[in-house]
Amino acid sequence: MERIVENHQDYFFDIENAKTYLTDAKNASKARFSNFLSSLKKLDIKGKYLEIGSGPGIITQLIATQHPDVEIIANDISPEMIKLAQLDLAENLKSRIKYMTGDACDIDSIKDLGEFDLIYSTFTLHHWDNAELAIKNLHSMLKDNGLLYIHDLKRVRWLYYIKSQTGFFNSIRAAYRPNEIKAMLNRIGIKNFKIRTIFPFFMQSILIRN
Ligand SMILES: C[S@@+](CC[C@H](N)C(=O)[O-])C[C@H]1O[C@@H](n2cnc3c(N)ncnc32)[C@H](O)[C@@H]1O
Repeated sequence: MERIVENHQDYFFDIENAKTYLTDAKNASKARFSNFLSSLKKLDIKGKYLEIGSGPGIITQLIATQHPDVEIIANDISPEMIKLAQLDLAENLKSRIKYMTGDACDIDSIKDLGEFDLIYSTFTLHHWDNAELAIKNLHSMLKDNGLLYIHDLKRVRWLYYIKSQTGFFNSIRAAYRPNEIKAMLNRIGIKNFKIRTIFPFFMQSILIRN
């Protein structure tokens, strides 16, 4: 059940693809984000949030609405996604959400953003060129007792019986297995973490405490 690597970054650097992603993410936002949002609601973390790989900002706006006291810096490697997110941002959230470009795998492009109570990322882990380095970088930007919360797809065995090569199935094929994530965290020296499989079982959450 080998992991496939797709060249997603070119895809997200194209404005038409970014627009298609925005429409798809809006239409499917309940299925994609409901578990993440309800878990975050229970955690009720105050303070400063950093979002990595915000794409067109659908989840950014949902979180800002659900947590009316927090400020969010939302980052994406694609300038096209950032432009789209800025255009789509609701007027009443403009004072609490700032979008900027940056690369999770390049600490110099993000370290000046500061330290955060919560750093989160949805459906991006499997896109990062060097996931281990990105996790190490993001972990170094947490405040004491801060949380790094990564929500992504999970590669599953039954998928290999399905012939479809559509984007969604290929994204699952590009996702990590929990044991691969554990190995990365061990190599970085991170011990305080939990990995949860999420219904319908091809999604997972990784929660790393500083
Ligand atoms: C599938 S989209 C997810 C967007 C959003 N988080 C969501 O859940 O709808 C993946 C996003 O990750 C961004 N991305 C990929 N590699 C990145 C990196 N190294 N640093 C920051 N963003 C990255 C892409 O440009 C793209 O917008």
